[in-house]
Amino acid sequence: MVKIEGNCKDIIDKAEWVAVATTGVDGPQLSATWGDYIRTLGIRDGEIVLVPIAGYYGTERNLAKDSRIEMLWATRQVHGKYGPGNGCKIKGIGEIQTSGEFADAAKEKFPWARAVLVVKIQEIIEQL
Ligand SMILES: Cc1cc2nc3c(=O)[nH]c(=O)nc-3n(C[C@H](O)[C@H](O)[C@H](O)COP(=O)(O)O)c2cc1C
Repeated sequence: MVKIEGNCKDIIDKAEWVAVATTGVDGPQLSATWGDYIRTLGIRDGEIVLVPIAGYYGTERNLAKDSRIEMLWATRQVHGKYGPGNGCKIKGIGEIQTSGEFADAAKEKFPWARAVLVVKIQEIIEQL
């Protein structure tokens, strides 16, 4: 199990928004979410990140062929080696689920959500 600790824990607690990258047949694709959306759903068992999704059709298409996913979190509120501002990259495996426990939780907290993006963390890398 990957442990979220130290600066990365602080960054995940404070990041305003998060970039979400997948790989498609035509190249890379970026989507995003708000940090507080993820915090509202909570990081399950310390290693599963949940994102409520309304769209994300491109991400869904990509994940069906290649489940690798990366998330980049950043905030000026956590100091890095070079001053105020630090980030953290999560590498993992992603899946979009339209039903089940995680999808139900996302739809309950965010009635606009059609599904949930479930990311199982494999690696956490501090950036700055
Ligand atoms: C800061 C920010 C936060 C966003 N948060 C969400 C979100 O939580 N859920 C969602 O469905 N879309 C969110 N979006 C919109 C998606 O990133 C956008 O619709 C994107 O194109 C996803 O679809 P795709 O995977 O097809 O590219 C957000 C966009 C930005 C810029």
